[in-house]
Amino acid sequence: MFLGSRIQTRAFSASARNLSKVAVLGAAGGIGQPLSLLLKLNPRVTELALYDIRGAPGVAADVSHVNTKSTVKGYAPGAANLAAALKGAEVVLIPAGVPRKPGMSRDDLFNTNASIVRDLAKACAESAPNANILVISNPVNSTVPICAEVFKAKGVYNPRRLFGVTTLDVVRASRFVSEIKNTDPANENITVVGGHSGVTIVPLFSQSNHPELSSNAELVHRVQFGGDEVVHAKEGAGSATLSMAMAGARMAESLLRAAQGEKGVIEPTFVDSPLYKDQGIDFFSSNVELGPNGVERVLPVGKVDANEEKLLEACFADLKKNIEKGKKFVAENP
Ligand code: NAD
Ligand code: LMR
Repeated sequence: MFLGSRIQTRAFSASARNLSKVAVLGAAGGIGQPLSLLLKLNPRVTELALYDIRGAPGVAADVSHVNTKSTVKGYAPGAANLAAALKGAEVVLIPAGVPRKPGMSRDDLFNTNASIVRDLAKACAESAPNANILVISNPVNSTVPICAEVFKAKGVYNPRRLFGVTTLDVVRASRFVSEIKNTDPANENITVVGGHSGVTIVPLFSQSNHPELSSNAELVHRVQFGGDEVVHAKEGAGSATLSMAMAGARMAESLLRAAQGEKGVIEPTFVDSPLYKDQGIDFFSSNVELGPNGVERVLPVGKVDANEEKLLEACFADLKKNIEKGKKFVAENP
């Protein structure tokens, strides 16, 4: 789907006016490598900057042999190199940090990943203050607020350009539904809202082609805990990387399409959101219309049924704590 005809036809439409530098921070990791490859295949990306604390030049050398037009540069560790990787970037994807092992929650990654994301956010604030920042590192419910607090402290916070990547949740939901209904997942458009961990992930099947699925507790659980399936299957060797790379590349592609003038580009993403601010929830994932300035419009959640109402209540309680935890971390560890 993503690598199919859409990209091929657009290979001829990416013009010199649409120069798009994309940076990946954590490019040598399980997600970073396939993500870098998918970005190299995307004709909208004209320059690819790969940074990691180890191994990015090697990944860049490898990916750079793929015969598409974009240039690729790998950056060795260090503040000056990180700044150079970020300079002029239109989109920055951040999959830097540790993944889960069986038995861990995403929140268990907080102690390690919070400071990694905080420091990378500082570098983005200094060297790419106008870039679209796509945070993949977990726990997303907390790492996105961490970035926001860092940008605020640096005086460059633009809520329209900060995105928690929750694309994988809708990718999974559509795939899982297609397995049950024996349909093409490309035609299964499932809205998923909330956050990106456990019960904060709220699929809204009542809004899909199969509203009856909202009472399918097993399916709802599978969407909420789909990440665990991969963590268990990898037996300690990490979490989702390939499906995540696809999801991250799709999100980056959507932002570039919107930046290059395409209208009506909609993706689910965890953003600074007006939807539940009156309940003290500053960040929320929902469908968002993207535009040249990033977030164009946060779409309402829409009508939900009684099952989904309950799921949303459970989501709010956890999400609020996760967001507060991220904010507190930056306040105490600036
Ligand atoms: P990984 O360990 O394979 O790769 C992480 C990479 O980050 C490594 O190459 C490491 O060297 C690099 N890194 C660490 N600190 C860095 C720093 N300060 N600057 C630059 N690079 C740094 O892990 P992975 O499987 O690629 O997962 C990465 C993160 O993505 C994890 O936190 C994981 O939980 C998260 N994730 C999120 C989603 C999502 O849907 N948002 C999906 C899957 C995984
Ligand atoms: C996922 O949803 O696959 C990721 O958030 C990784 C994880 O820890 O499950």
